[in-house]
Amino acid sequence: MAALRKPVIAGNWKMYKTIAEAKELAEAVVRGLDNSFGAATLILIPPFTAIQEVKRTVSGTAIAVGAQDVFWEEKGAFTGEISPLQLKEAGCDFVVIGHSERRQYFGETDETVRKKTLAALCHGLTPIVCFGETLEERESGRTLDRIKAQLELSLFTLEEADFSRVVLAYEPIWAIGTGRNATPEQAEEVQAFTRSLVASRYGKTAADYAIILYGGSVKPNNALSLAREKDVDGFLVGGASLEAESFLAIAREALRAVRD
Ligand code: 13P
Repeated sequence: MAALRKPVIAGNWKMYKTIAEAKELAEAVVRGLDNSFGAATLILIPPFTAIQEVKRTVSGTAIAVGAQDVFWEEKGAFTGEISPLQLKEAGCDFVVIGHSERRQYFGETDETVRKKTLAALCHGLTPIVCFGETLEERESGRTLDRIKAQLELSLFTLEEADFSRVVLAYEPIWAIGTGRNATPEQAEEVQAFTRSLVASRYGKTAADYAIILYGGSVKPNNALSLAREKDVDGFLVGGASLEAESFLAIAREALRAVRD
């Protein structure tokens, strides 16, 4: 974590929580806030159905709300899809794009990630763009090649002004929901590499300001050591964001890493 970059802690609730449960969780997060959290950006990312309720619940606080996916068209005959315009209206400022679960189960590709990212930016949503390798790619020594290819085909097609508004999220697929987080060294290797790719594509200043999150089995007990790595700027949290206490504990650890 570098002081230059404000830590971001985003809770991806995935397909969990009814509207009533989402409200309860958001209320608990709000109750747990104190002034120290002002030094971080906290984002709650509920399922589509609960976005408005969560937005209402956090209004008046600094907590932001995000969505887990978006379509690239503004409107039209696209049954089942949700547009960036609709997300913005519902109260979102962020949107996760290209999560590995979307790539794995719903056929998302680097090309759809590119289109969705552009559409989100056009409507004033900040994309949180996910990338990461499979276990097989890691074990066969292809991690960095895979990361580079993903970034080149999706984000690095953007103009610099657009790229500067994107949040990156490294999520090794083998670490998601497995309880097996990347070690701080493994996360740092990929995230430092990612920053170096950003520097080659957009220059050093863009790289210095790029926010690169880590996601994959982040818990209160591993957050501090991960956050101490210089290229880990915060977290995209799955399971541990479903309880206010563990989500806020992770945010506290990220803030501690900035202070230390
Ligand atoms: P877990 O924290 O449950 O491993 O999920 C990570 C994730 O996919 C966040 O987007």
